[in-house]
Amino acid sequence: MVSLRGITKSFGAVRSLRGVDLTLAPGEVLGLVGDNGAGKSTLMKVLAGAVQHDSGQISIDGRDVRFTSPADARRERVGIVYQDLALCDTLDVASNLFLGREPRRGPFIDRATMHARAAETLSELHVRVKSTYQEIGELSGGQRQAVAIARAVSFRPRVLILDEPTAALAVAEVRQVLKMIRDVAAQGVGVILITHRLQDLFEVCDRITVMYEGRSVEDAPISDLDIERLVAMITRSGATNGGPGTGANTDTDTDTDTEEVA
Ligand SMILES: Nc1ncnc2c1ncn2[C@@H]1O[C@H](COP(=O)(O)OP(=O)(O)O)[C@@H](O)[C@H]1O
Ligand SMILES: [Mg+2]
Repeated sequence: MVSLRGITKSFGAVRSLRGVDLTLAPGEVLGLVGDNGAGKSTLMKVLAGAVQHDSGQISIDGRDVRFTSPADARRERVGIVYQDLALCDTLDVASNLFLGREPRRGPFIDRATMHARAAETLSELHVRVKSTYQEIGELSGGQRQAVAIARAVSFRPRVLILDEPTAALAVAEVRQVLKMIRDVAAQGVGVILITHRLQDLFEVCDRITVMYEGRSVEDAPISDLDIERLVAMITRSGATNGGPGTGANTDTDTDTDTEEVA
């Protein structure tokens, strides 16, 4: 459904993306992993239309697309929940869900309809809040994350990108978010999950793409991996290519690090 090929992006002298390939099928949960600074968030901003890449191809259902704004990506039904959520703390749950597209009656926001629809959306996703009138700032981290995901899902995406959705959550809250991911994927949505919680990947992912210093370096079904192999892939410690000390060169790139920009 989605294919990224040879994506590059520089910010001034910083070459954040140096050639990334990634694919995603409908209903698939893809784990996108890599150390801090590997380029995961930048790549996802490219796919969500928030950052424009320098070269490379994005295609959706076989059509080449080029996004110049988040609205372009939303039209292609690519949804994203950013690391820092972008919810409005002083507004209630329903207002956050419908921010910018509130149901109206004449010139006024139709609050009754908005809250009824919010309750419906949340219950479809098994998200529990005391009331849709609660301010976002009063919710737990897990509830806020769930509302942010519900907002993205309410746009009916076919691709849903989640950037570190469980980083700041308690154990029970992590469980809920993982369940939401499975539910959304079961409806045919392709989900891309960025996380440092490697154990979560084994619970929800079908496949893993590993990034290293701005490149995609590995792509494997999760069933072929265990935590040790995954860590070795992320750190490129060589364990995937015969282990350290064998002299195996795991660097498949032809260019050298001498061109690295400080
Ligand atoms: N807007 C930006 N301006 C300059 N550099 C950026 C910008 N966004 C990201 N970068 C740089 O790109 C690299 C990749 O960052 P990022 O995509 O956030 O990595 P990750 O999400 O894998 O931790 C980092 O070196 C980061 O500092
Ligand atoms: Mg990031």
